[in-house]
Amino acid sequence: MTTAEQYKKFEELDKLASQGGGVERVERQHANGHMTARERIDMLLDKGTFNEIDKLVIHQCTDFGMDKNHIPGDGIVCGYGKIDGRLVYVYAYDFTVYGGTLSATGAKKIVKVQELALKNGAPVIALNDSGGARIQEGVGSISGYASIFYQNTIASGVIPQISAILGPCAGGACYSPALTDFIFMVKEKSHMFITGPDVVKAVTHEEVDKEELGGAYTHSSKSGVTHFLCDTEEETLMSIRELLSFLPSNNMEDAPMQTCTDDIRRAEESLMTVIPDDPNMPYDIKNIIEPVVDNHYFFEVMPHFAKNIVVGFARLGGRSVGIVANQPAYLAGVLDINASDKASRFIRFCDCFNIPIVTFEDVPGFLPGCTQEHNGIIRHGAKIVYAYAEATVPKITVITRKAYGGAYIVMNSKPIGSDVNFSYPTAEIAVMGADGAVNILYRKATPEEKAKAVEEYKEKFSNPYRAAEQGYIDEIILPKDTRYKLIQALEMTQNKSQSNPPKKHGNMPL
Ligand code: HXC
Repeated sequence: MTTAEQYKKFEELDKLASQGGGVERVERQHANGHMTARERIDMLLDKGTFNEIDKLVIHQCTDFGMDKNHIPGDGIVCGYGKIDGRLVYVYAYDFTVYGGTLSATGAKKIVKVQELALKNGAPVIALNDSGGARIQEGVGSISGYASIFYQNTIASGVIPQISAILGPCAGGACYSPALTDFIFMVKEKSHMFITGPDVVKAVTHEEVDKEELGGAYTHSSKSGVTHFLCDTEEETLMSIRELLSFLPSNNMEDAPMQTCTDDIRRAEESLMTVIPDDPNMPYDIKNIIEPVVDNHYFFEVMPHFAKNIVVGFARLGGRSVGIVANQPAYLAGVLDINASDKASRFIRFCDCFNIPIVTFEDVPGFLPGCTQEHNGIIRHGAKIVYAYAEATVPKITVITRKAYGGAYIVMNSKPIGSDVNFSYPTAEIAVMGADGAVNILYRKATPEEKAKAVEEYKEKFSNPYRAAEQGYIDEIILPKDTRYKLIQALEMTQNKSQSNPPKKHGNMPL
């Protein structure tokens, strides 16, 4: 062969690999409203930055006629590229090749990318669209999953790991996304379940379609498995880019600072009227978060699940922060099992990746009742204590109104390790609300005596001054000054250096 012929041979092979499962299957993928693996990667990454690895890898299976059916790349498109000029690793299941199913060699490709990402300290993004384990390969395929899960676990807390579900994701395959930090799903186009509708019907006699069983809405609002619900694949890919802008590339770095185009001293008069005169009236905590953060922009995580707590990313003075906030507009902001899980996982993510945590607190307590107790509110609520207490990033709390009892403690109180605690003059910091307290202390009193005791209790405890007198509050501030106060507190704590005692790992209540 001449040199020119060798180049031509390579180009033909490369072209074949780029075609995935071939024209017909690509057309079917488009007709079903999906992009191909390579189209997705092209859209996700900065233009022209993708370097594909293992493009010519073929499977080693010889059973069921597979020895004659080699497709270069074997259904996984993987490599590295850039997002906003920063290195990322990516792997995408190619549904046009054997339904995106995982072979032993496909798994090796993914593991290679995961190992590179871990060694070089950059995020990994997985674009899932797969029929699961390739049946023809038997144990080789399922063992491949095991090695992917192992890498997911080892990389947890070292590099950000992000999963998008853009088609089917069934069976044990769901556990790789579940082990990553954030999951994105697309309405009506993506599904996750351990067993599909047919198995459900056979085992439990339940009739359910795949959308209700494991669609994007189900997992974003009911199960809490997914963090972001998107309308389209394009929106998903753009949202992944945006999420990464708030995150460092690994646990040894800080999140990238952005030039702050908003006035850091901006006093926000609208905040002076957000808290209603009536302490039992709800208000939307986002009406405090948004005016406070840079450019009023809050990137909410899990907006549809456990709405009684709000979590997400924002910037203050250009610095990335994680926000955790009780939501008085939903179930009065009470803490329940789902809210506890949602908040704890988010707090731990921020702590893994050096992102300061800002907490807005207005919480009447934990949700009472048999359902919560029997499902383990004690165990789940303890997670928030644990997550805040072990977090060594800067932790700042703003108590806007109610801070009662155990809920006061868990929402980043001073003794749990908060660095700076602010409170509005409207704060109520006590063991419980006035009526509940008087009913316990003066059970046998007349209604008049009780009313008098309620007034006395409110005067003593329905304010932040007792806490401020004892140093449990560092500063009482007016709501309009929140932004500048927070930015100054973040600057004050930016070199915070704190570490917990060395240990293999803690034993967090799960
Ligand atoms: C091999 C598979 C396959 C599989 C699909 N295909 N799933 N090949 N192993 N698991 C092939 C089909 O034969 C077909 O090949 C092509 O992929 C596209 O599939 P279609 O069925 O035509 O597509 P569609 O109608 O869109 O349905 C997609 C699907 C369905 C919902 C994913 O194929 C399906 O239900 N597949 C089985 C899913 C499953 O049960 N997987 C195992 C999960 S358990 P041709 O050549 O005809 O185009 C698991 C264990 C993991 O994964 C354990 C980890 C610990």
